[in-house]
Amino acid sequence: MNVQIAPSILSADFAALGEAIERVERAGADLIHVDVMDGHFVPNITIGPPVVKALKRVATRPLDVHLMISEPDRYIEAFAAAGASMLSVHVEVLPHLHRTVHAIKALGVKAGVVLNPSTPVSAIEEIAGDVDFVLIMSVNPGFGGQTFIPRAESKVAAVRALLDRSGNTAAPIEIDGGIDMKTAARVVAAGARILVAGNAIFGTPDPEQATRELKALANGALTAESHAR
Ligand code: DX5
Ligand code: ZN
Repeated sequence: MNVQIAPSILSADFAALGEAIERVERAGADLIHVDVMDGHFVPNITIGPPVVKALKRVATRPLDVHLMISEPDRYIEAFAAAGASMLSVHVEVLPHLHRTVHAIKALGVKAGVVLNPSTPVSAIEEIAGDVDFVLIMSVNPGFGGQTFIPRAESKVAAVRALLDRSGNTAAPIEIDGGIDMKTAARVVAAGARILVAGNAIFGTPDPEQATRELKALANGALTAESHAR
């Protein structure tokens, strides 16, 4: 599997989201990462199903919807109906994670579980065999443009080992927070295969160029890694 780039529109101009998506798709973005925040689980408030539905009209790449909300079970159907291809939920808010993961899959959507920086890998031990992907937060969720927490690197490797042990070798690891031209190669070497990037793409004057550069760098790191093995 190549490394996929998922630009996070959180750092784009919210008055011109359609244009932002077109630009990164032109540059080879693989997924469009959509950050949903409720002002409760995280301190920020962003967007809901109506906006996802509107994005779906313009996006040609799958919408990767990251739910940073306290009660995701109440909204899963609405986000699936709005056009999410991937839905990820935080393990910190879900006492019945198994039920939630299977409810997402039953809607025909890829199910991901998300770990905050302080959440141990062991929290997903029993569900690792069931998920379509795991999202590792390399910042505390809530805002774009934060600094990468280096500890996430070894966590990627630990989750990769857990997924493989669980027989779920096909499930990729996605990483989110502080990914840029400096951190991308390190997380790819650790085993991440989907890189979310907000500020490193939309915080630059040329998001198209930034997407191309990040994708080339990430896939270069993958080639270097396979040669080293
Ligand atoms: C943070 C969000 C991220 C955010 C990443 O809470 O989940 O997806 O957009 O932004 P950067 O890449 O700027 O750290
Ligand atoms: Zn996110």
